Amino acid sequence: METEILKAEVLIEAIPYIRRFAGSTVVVKYGGSAMVDEKLKRSVIQDIAMLKYIGLKPVVVHGGGKEITSLLERLGKQSQFLDGLRVTDEETAKVAEMVLSGSIGKALVDELQMVGISSVGISGKDGRSLLCSRKLDEKGRDLGFVGQIDHVDTTLLETLLANNFVPVVSPVGVDAAGNTYNINADYAASAVAGSLSAQKLIFLTDVEGILKDKDDPASILRTLSEQEALGYIADGTIKGGMIPKVQCCLDGLDKGVESVHVLDGRVPHAILLEIFTTKGVGTMVTKEKQA
Ligand SMILES: Nc1ncnc2c1ncn2[C@@H]1O[C@H](COP(=O)(O)OP(=O)(O)O)[C@@H](O)[C@H]1O
Ligand SMILES: [Mg+2]
Repeated sequence: METEILKAEVLIEAIPYIRRFAGSTVVVKYGGSAMVDEKLKRSVIQDIAMLKYIGLKPVVVHGGGKEITSLLERLGKQSQFLDGLRVTDEETAKVAEMVLSGSIGKALVDELQMVGISSVGISGKDGRSLLCSRKLDEKGRDLGFVGQIDHVDTTLLETLLANNFVPVVSPVGVDAAGNTYNINADYAASAVAGSLSAQKLIFLTDVEGILKDKDDPASILRTLSEQEALGYIADGTIKGGMIPKVQCCLDGLDKGVESVHVLDGRVPHAILLEIFTTKGVGTMVTKEKQA
């Protein structure tokens, strides 16, 4: 009986957060180990289901870099990265689409359906949701069919949300000529969050959060302002795949997303911990420096 009462108390403690966030749109970028490890995968799916059941509107945008790399390897193709972005020829873009839209997206939809959540998988091609052009990297280098999102058409996403579906978005885009683009999922998530005026944007990754020293988990930055973030990118503290992620955090804030977090997806129920408790499980990125 004691434990049952404790359980009830845990639910009661969540009331203020449920009141605050009911009806809110939360975009979750799902990637890293949390997508590979079966137990973590179940925990993410349960968290998303919980958000939906208590009245939030979750939107999932997934990655799949590891799976794309491994299928490319099986096909005898090496992957090349420039500052965390994959160099993508036409064949690579096709493989990425197969993996992202064909395999990963549909598997996530299936998992959500299994816990009773109506879910629909779309890519940026569906409803021309993510209209792209070729993205040059920061140094002006051509990365091939890496999509820069020029326009998000939210018609399909809004139709799905209004009809109680949880959209699962694969980061595949299209241009006016019908070319297929692989989009870094972090960019897709922030573009979607910005266009939907989401209240929260959450990046699940496989490190503790944004670290001052990439190899020291204890150096986690609980909050990071825009100015600090730009400084850490310039001085090399933030490297590789963390660069686009941090840029996307800033981009989300610019587009009016209220709060942006980089969470440790290896912690079970990281999403619920972030939304319904005061316990920090990652880094919150803010416009201004926090006191
Ligand atoms: N300052 C930093 N703090 C945390 N991670 C960093 C930092 N600099 C570089 N990284 C790297 O960025 C990676 C996260 O980006 P990425 O590999 O693209 O993962 P994801 O699948 O989440 O997009 C981390 O695993 C880490 O190796
Ligand atoms: Mg990445």
